[in-house]
Amino acid sequence: MIDLHHPVRDPQSAGHESPTGPVPVVVVGAGGMGKTWIRTVLDNDAAVLVGIVDVMDGAAERAVSELVPEHQRSAVVTGTDSATVARQAAAEAVIDVTIPAAHHKVTADALHAGYPVLGEKPCAATLAEAVSLAGHAETTGRLFMVSQSRRNNPHLGETRRLADELGGAGIVDTRFYKAPRFGGFRDEMEHPLIVDMAIHAFDAGRVLIDGNPVAVTATAYNPVWSWYAGDAAATVTITYDTGAVHTFSGSWAAPGAETSWNGDWQISCERGSVHWDGEEPPTARPEGGEQHPGRAPAPEARWELDASLSEFCAALRGGPVPASEVHGNVWTQAIVEAAVRSAGTGRRVLLAEVLDEALDAARELDLADGRSRALSTWKTGISGLTTT
Ligand SMILES: NC(=O)c1ccc[n+]([C@@H]2O[C@H](COP(=O)([O-])OP(=O)(O)OC[C@H]3O[C@@H](n4cnc5c(N)ncnc54)[C@H](O)[C@@H]3O)[C@@H](O)[C@H]2O)c1
Repeated sequence: MIDLHHPVRDPQSAGHESPTGPVPVVVVGAGGMGKTWIRTVLDNDAAVLVGIVDVMDGAAERAVSELVPEHQRSAVVTGTDSATVARQAAAEAVIDVTIPAAHHKVTADALHAGYPVLGEKPCAATLAEAVSLAGHAETTGRLFMVSQSRRNNPHLGETRRLADELGGAGIVDTRFYKAPRFGGFRDEMEHPLIVDMAIHAFDAGRVLIDGNPVAVTATAYNPVWSWYAGDAAATVTITYDTGAVHTFSGSWAAPGAETSWNGDWQISCERGSVHWDGEEPPTARPEGGEQHPGRAPAPEARWELDASLSEFCAALRGGPVPASEVHGNVWTQAIVEAAVRSAGTGRRVLLAEVLDEALDAARELDLADGRSRALSTWKTGISGLTTT
């Protein structure tokens, strides 16, 4: 069981512990996204920045001088080792913004040192590592939440509300067409669109649709003019146990009429349809009625990273378990893994299949690591995610 209210026991952290005050956090990973997280923490009253860590010598210190106001700098501990900085800084929680390959170790180490973790997506580099982290969270009883920031868009919540008024989302169709020239690792990935971008749409689809995903069929391809080495385009169909279906089609090599970064969404419900362009408030059109706009977000609404951080801190102060607590988030990574497998084999892939294989591999990882035996009680991959 996850004990969200269990405070860090380290005596050195006693000075910062307060069941009602802002949560003292260390940001681990001071790269591009780490800097965005540092700004987010500095601007959010629910948290206080007490440390920055990066394995690259000097990177944490550079982030402090670049981003932290001068009068706050002396209160921010820096270094290359997370455990040391977190202890010296009397942190209560860790934000893991390292590269995906480091997520498993950084997060598992923090959980076992007693720190709840808010981790950037993806949960881990592989589905097996993600399942293993669910086990580490169970073993330690600490909260591990994955920040899948695009699900925290108030327009998406409004889209869900409008769809519910019309009988609930039955078919969700996402179109995503962009033409970014990133350079770097995405240009070399085998499945840049599915793994690095469509994961957000798969996760947002889960916000709109009730139930759990069951199976995925995917085709991945690379337009002849594409500047990516791997497949920059894909069509993915995800079926849910409620009978709802989410289709995603998109390309990262699509110059011309581009969609928003959230994509363009059409939702078909029993009594009408909802459309969201990914940027403006959604619109609803009831059967036989006029199209009408959804509500604009409240001025105090929290968005994306800021919303993730608020939800995480609230959970540590007695609030509800976040929907993206690791067990909830692993489903999204399982959709990605199933889509990649389907694209490679040409067959429909069950989530039960990829999750059971991941569970076997995660048990091997945990056996070698020696710190977590929680997965030994999971009967199947799916039951482990649904019964904690
Ligand atoms: N939510 C989003 O929209 C979004 C956007 C971009 C990136 N991300 C995610 O954010 C994470 C970081 O991405 P990025 O673009 O900042 O990468 P990056 O390469 O710019 O930065 C990663 C940093 O982590 C450091 N690092 C690596 N291993 C470490 C370890 N063991 N301990 C401490 N520091 C370590 C590196 O030195 C580097 O400075 C990734 O998981 C990525 O998928 C999310």
